[in-house]
Amino acid sequence: MKSSIMQGARIISIGSAVPDLCINNTEISQIVETSDEWIVNRTGIKERRILNGINQSVVDLAYSASMEALNKAKMHPLEIDLIILATSSPNDLFGSASQIQAKIGAYKAVAFDITAACSGFVLAIVTASQFIQNGSYKNILIIGADVLSKWIDWSDRKTCILFGDGAGAAIMQACHKKDNAILGFQLNTDGTKSNQLSITYKENTDSHNTLKLFQGKFQYLSMNGQEVYKFAVSKVPASIKKCLNAIQLSAKDVNWLLLHQANQRILNAVAQRLSIDNCKIISNLSKYGNTSAASIPLALDEALKSNKIIKEDIIVISGFGAGLTWGTVVIKWKC
Ligand code: UT7
Repeated sequence: MKSSIMQGARIISIGSAVPDLCINNTEISQIVETSDEWIVNRTGIKERRILNGINQSVVDLAYSASMEALNKAKMHPLEIDLIILATSSPNDLFGSASQIQAKIGAYKAVAFDITAACSGFVLAIVTASQFIQNGSYKNILIIGADVLSKWIDWSDRKTCILFGDGAGAAIMQACHKKDNAILGFQLNTDGTKSNQLSITYKENTDSHNTLKLFQGKFQYLSMNGQEVYKFAVSKVPASIKKCLNAIQLSAKDVNWLLLHQANQRILNAVAQRLSIDNCKIISNLSKYGNTSAASIPLALDEALKSNKIIKEDIIVISGFGAGLTWGTVVIKWKC
């Protein structure tokens, strides 16, 4: 990290939340032509959690995850300076971070959303670390939360088997420069391929008013799975290599590889291309599927709760997905 930083940044606590409703592959095979065998072999997913119940939203999951992170840090919500919510499934297109600010009572915090799909949590870590390292803020709540079950065509077997709902939150805090834990990052976007994975807005072709004004609706999530797969297994290792090189580390220094939980085959292929042993891969997608922006903090929280990660471990975190966006942040665990 450049020596120009005013103060260090580190993650001091993590929380997560998933809905109670659990749907396994056999249950999904009752609504589309698929099987537990196909889904497990091609993705590693066995079950996923889905939000059900009227008036439940991404904000409820984000609230639970945030309260857990705040409680673990023994921090009062009024101590939070900034809230960043990474989500692509808000319940208000103007942003949902402000609703979380009100719900947790963090009335002194500025709050805004980041829309960067499955790379959202990586971008939230990097954005928060910039605000901390340049001396602007001390305590930042970052959240990755998505409820893509609301945006999926449940008759499309190519996508409906993949996604689940969830939220993860982290408190990032300023610290002495020498304790800085956000060692480096590397971010990318390729908008020319945005149509490979999207939830597009489509206008109605006819307008019934004299001013000829058109309006439309958002469509269901659509994905070219094979293209996104190829993109992930080629671009993600390159991003990780660049990021490690820039901070004079190598793949040998990595204790944990924490990738966006999209597909176990992608996790294994990325590790193989980096010559990182499979036992260093953090994976929990068999239980939750692809939870988009929530997948990284959800897996990080679980790895911490099971005491896998210990102080001073180097964790390589990479997100990838719609945009197309992808990126890496390398952290040293300090708690
Ligand atoms: O979070 C953002 C990032 N997203 C990703 O990283 C997703 C990346 N893509 C993938 O993970 C994989 O491409 C998928 C899991 C989505 C699909 O796996 P695949 O091995 O690429 O399958 P495919 O699309 O090539 O389909 C193979 C066959 C096809 O049949 P034919 O044409 O060979 O007869 C599909 O119609 O499998 C069929 N198929 C299914 N069969 C049973 C597709 N979906 C299913 C299904 N159940 N759910």
